[in-house]
Amino acid sequence: MRVLITGGAGFVGSHLVRDRLELGDNVVVLDDLSTGFADNVPDDAEFIEGSVVDLDVVRKAVANADLVLHLAASRAVLRSVHDPIQTDRANTLGTLNVLTAARDADVGKVVLASSSSVYGGVAPVPTPEVAPLTPKSPYAVSKLAMEHYARVYFELYGLETVALRYFNIFGPRQRPDSAYAAVIPIFTEAIAAGRSIQIHGDGEQSRDFTFIGDIVAANRIVAAAAGAIVGGKVYNVAGGRPVTLNELVTGLESILGVEAQREFTEPRAGDIRLSFADTRAAAVELGWRAQIPFEDGLARTVEWFRGWQPPAGG
Ligand SMILES: NC(=O)c1ccc[n+]([C@@H]2O[C@H](COP(=O)([O-])OP(=O)(O)OC[C@H]3O[C@@H](n4cnc5c(N)ncnc54)[C@H](O)[C@@H]3O)[C@@H](O)[C@H]2O)c1
Repeated sequence: MRVLITGGAGFVGSHLVRDRLELGDNVVVLDDLSTGFADNVPDDAEFIEGSVVDLDVVRKAVANADLVLHLAASRAVLRSVHDPIQTDRANTLGTLNVLTAARDADVGKVVLASSSSVYGGVAPVPTPEVAPLTPKSPYAVSKLAMEHYARVYFELYGLETVALRYFNIFGPRQRPDSAYAAVIPIFTEAIAAGRSIQIHGDGEQSRDFTFIGDIVAANRIVAAAAGAIVGGKVYNVAGGRPVTLNELVTGLESILGVEAQREFTEPRAGDIRLSFADTRAAAVELGWRAQIPFEDGLARTVEWFRGWQPPAGG
């Protein structure tokens, strides 16, 4: 089948591109390279450099697609705080363009990358999909808007859409030099280089880290699932165990064989203390659950990092 992957030059998208190629699909990547890297896209995928904000470009990319995996987004919470309009254009208007083009091109299914940030950190833990949604940043608002548009396009136009709420993904190809890099690549790089790491607060805040292999598996399952079951739905996709930052650092120390220099700084305003998903809906309705223990995922991530070279001059 023909699959369009928006954001396919990014961390998560690049893994989905490889997975769909392995399944024998024809893959088209649409990415504006704002945080992604052209060399993340394998030669056997078709690459269109362009933005989801441009409806004409999206229509061309969507043509004849059977499946769309929509990952393209401005994904940094902090950037959204500094520039909410930029984030909204990429995430809300971008999604609306993807859904509209997919509807008009009779695409079979659209799987969208949502985020645990829609809960806002005040939900009960473990957090089920039905928990109250109180997004706390423009980024989180845009992800919630995306979910609503996806459901409405299913209800109004019969376009099969499914939104997956990802919780802190990590794994190979998540680069420390990407704009607004995530905590695991930042800590890995700093500890390996003997530099100190900054931990906001006491380090006892936790995240439900999810290894990329489990995200790929969830996308495979959802892409193949019957629309009658998943259409218009939202599912948590998470590792299934809260891991504190202190535990993360200890894990990295043991894999890297280097003692970290921890610098504890003031807690960050609005930092979520405990992030922990209830993933029973995905288990019951999709037969998906995370398979890769955090420690194994971390070891595989560090292994990738050891072989990674920062670009010259970068
Ligand atoms: N990584 C995580 O922990 C996490 C957690 C929850 C949700 N998500 C979501 O998963 C998706 C992928 O995240 P990621 O970690 O791979 O980030 P990423 O930044 O590596 O990938 C996003 C990709 O989208 C591209 N992009 C951005 N704006 C675009 C636009 N207007 N048009 C076309 N392409 C554009 C970027 O160049 C990049 O290649 C995002 O939608 C993100 O919000 C990620």
